[in-house]
Amino acid sequence: MAIIEINNLQKSFNQLNVLKDINFTVNNNEVIAIIGPSGSGKSTILRCLVHLEKVDGGTIKIDDKYLVEKGNYNQPRSIKELTSKMGMVFQHFNLFPHLTVKENLELVPKTITKQPYEAIEQKSNELLKKVGLSDRIFAYPSQLSGGQKQRVAIARALMLNPEIMLFDEPTSALDPELTGEVLSVMKDLAKENMTMIVVTHEMGFAKDVADRVIFMDRGEIVETGTPTEIFENPQSKRTKEFLSKSYR
Ligand SMILES: Nc1ncnc2c1ncn2[C@@H]1O[C@H](COP(=O)(O)OP(=O)(O)O)[C@@H](O)[C@H]1O
Ligand SMILES: [Mg+2]
Repeated sequence: MAIIEINNLQKSFNQLNVLKDINFTVNNNEVIAIIGPSGSGKSTILRCLVHLEKVDGGTIKIDDKYLVEKGNYNQPRSIKELTSKMGMVFQHFNLFPHLTVKENLELVPKTITKQPYEAIEQKSNELLKKVGLSDRIFAYPSQLSGGQKQRVAIARALMLNPEIMLFDEPTSALDPELTGEVLSVMKDLAKENMTMIVVTHEMGFAKDVADRVIFMDRGEIVETGTPTEIFENPQSKRTKEFLSKSYR
């Protein structure tokens, strides 16, 4: 069953047409990798999904409800309800620098949910254990490595029990030796059947973990297929060119 449906999505910044008629669906429990050159519109798609950007036209449905229908947005309360089904992880972590790891996880749940604090604390302990950071809960972000910061960001995004996780180049800001620990947490999530959209330059990860790969270039989806189809037998010249550069 489709959990996300995107139809005729359009987005421009001033004169620049950044997304030109984007169409795709994401099924429940599916892992989608989005690959493509810098500037092709990958981040903008994720940002439109979580309403960090407004679309100019098109339709986005989440869990069969309209976030935006033919360019017309649902009412703010419904938008919040729909976007809260998604957790997002950014390239540059976006942790609160003045809060400890534990506080980073608990701040938003404490302000927006009515759960007792004990339940929130139990959840943050559980998630920090899951990402292997139980011994760092009182550390500040500046005391962590990039890989540890990103694992905190993933745990934080999981605090509100999202149905879908969006990752925007989660390992691009990391030294190569630290990418593995982050990819491994993401692999665990995929194994637990989390629905995920992952924008990535990690072709190995896309090959191993993604159910489907979307190749974007200049605001368009050029090609979609299984990892085998995209990596072993790309149809478009643009896909072939991109892949030949990415494997250097
Ligand atoms: N807030 C913005 N204002 C103006 N231009 C933007 C903005 N965000 C993105 N862009 C432009 O939109 C295009 C697509 O950006 P982006 O979605 O970030 O691409 P990608 O993630 O594939 O590198 C780029 O040309 C970028 O410069
Ligand atoms: Mg980007």
